[in-house]
Amino acid sequence: METATQTLHRLTSYEPGREWDEPVDDPRVVQDLEVNDLDRLPWFYKRYEGSLPRVSLPRDLPSTTAPAVAVLAGTADVAPTDLDLPQLSRLLHLSAGVVRTTVRPYATWLFRAAGSAGGRFPLEVYVTVPEGTGLPAGVHWYDPLDHALVRIGPPPLGEAPALVVTGIPWRTGWRYRERGFRHVYWDAGTMLSQLLAAADSAGLTAMLRTRFPDAAVTALVGADGVNEWPVAVVALGDGMPALDASGVATMGEVDEPPVEFPLVTAAQRAGDRDSLGPPWDRGAPVDVAVEGGDPIETVVLARGSQRRMDPDRGLPESLLRTSMSVALRGLDLPHVVVVHDVEGLAPGVYRWPDLSAPLRPGYMRDELYRVCLDQGLARDAAFVVIGAADLSALDDRQYREAQLAAGLVEGRLHLLAYALGASASGMTFLDSEMPSLLGEPKDALLFTCVGVPEYASASGGSPGAPTDVHMVTPR
Ligand SMILES: Cc1cc2nc3c(=O)[nH]c(=O)nc-3n(C[C@H](O)[C@H](O)[C@H](O)COP(=O)(O)O)c2cc1C
Repeated sequence: METATQTLHRLTSYEPGREWDEPVDDPRVVQDLEVNDLDRLPWFYKRYEGSLPRVSLPRDLPSTTAPAVAVLAGTADVAPTDLDLPQLSRLLHLSAGVVRTTVRPYATWLFRAAGSAGGRFPLEVYVTVPEGTGLPAGVHWYDPLDHALVRIGPPPLGEAPALVVTGIPWRTGWRYRERGFRHVYWDAGTMLSQLLAAADSAGLTAMLRTRFPDAAVTALVGADGVNEWPVAVVALGDGMPALDASGVATMGEVDEPPVEFPLVTAAQRAGDRDSLGPPWDRGAPVDVAVEGGDPIETVVLARGSQRRMDPDRGLPESLLRTSMSVALRGLDLPHVVVVHDVEGLAPGVYRWPDLSAPLRPGYMRDELYRVCLDQGLARDAAFVVIGAADLSALDDRQYREAQLAAGLVEGRLHLLAYALGASASGMTFLDSEMPSLLGEPKDALLFTCVGVPEYASASGGSPGAPTDVHMVTPR
């Protein structure tokens, strides 16, 4: 019997012969939706009616000095710090803040600090603060444009302040239909990679949990469980995260009106739990050579998804090894690496961490171009990293976690690439081609292209002062 997430995965799989924006012919998939309809462009973030109490977050952010690679590797020597409002402000800006904008004829596009498949940014962040921490107590929604906390509920019970990340399936489904379920978890992993790195770089405790009582957390942040549901919780301190509501939260609106995807709702509900699970293991430090380098905040703001990579220039094997070993710290999700142009390695498909001989030797640029829906980045990169899993072995909660783990790896690879002078972009793919590409009967979760940049992205701005950019078109 197929699980709900296996059904979702199958019905949202891309294959040759059907355009990516066409729905699969199945009654469980919404058929009458015109995707990418600019007349129905979803809101970029939630809205709340009336005047709720607001706390402006400090715009002058504390800085750090540890090199980003050492922070990500877990080897940085950082003194522990207490969470205060400036530190919270820094965490929110470097993960979910608006750092760039671009003016389009129909809207001003808001780009967040962390990437998002298709630039859809389908996540919201809430901060839950119990009484007595020195931070403003209450359940707050993070307003990304105004860089402020909006109090939507009374102080929750619990020991440590926490961030709750939710997903809005319609915001990404507007473009990707039900496949947006995967994207919510990819994007959450990508964003959390930056949040955890920002916390580590400042000496703050941050513990990620993906098992929690879904119904209680949904109610805590005023989500409805259909158009918005919780994805992850990060405790910002030791002790039990403050997740027990002491009153009713204001719900707010996600759009008017959002479109519901019943397949997505079913996939999400099937993984619901009613108790709190353990935090994710951060993994042992990874022993990699680090010779100085920019701190996390510089790398996060320098990061952008590279739109054009130079196909005539490769990267050194040391960069591939550092990136992979650090990106996978504490995670046991299998990955393969498709090498196009890495000095010291023959082109081909490798099963990480074995770089002694490719599983499938040979030049794969054309194959990757085709498998990635004719997107030039997968062809022009120096190497392409692919998270893969045996989905038949995963239950509905593990499926969510595998997609999120794949996003964490993508986010870390991104930061590592920019810290090491390379560039990166997340990448989608034709699911049907995976067994032949990977050389084994596995499903791909997410691709990351790493390569030599053809241009430098304009650095992202500080809170309240995003950089206005012009978009570069991919080949
Ligand atoms: C999970 C994920 C998947 C992505 N997939 C693609 C892709 O298939 N093709 C592409 O050109 N860009 C892809 N991107 C890059 C996004 O388009 C980019 O993150 C978004 O437009 C925001 O821009 P920024 O990352 O420069 O801030 C992906 C990004 C993420 C996080």
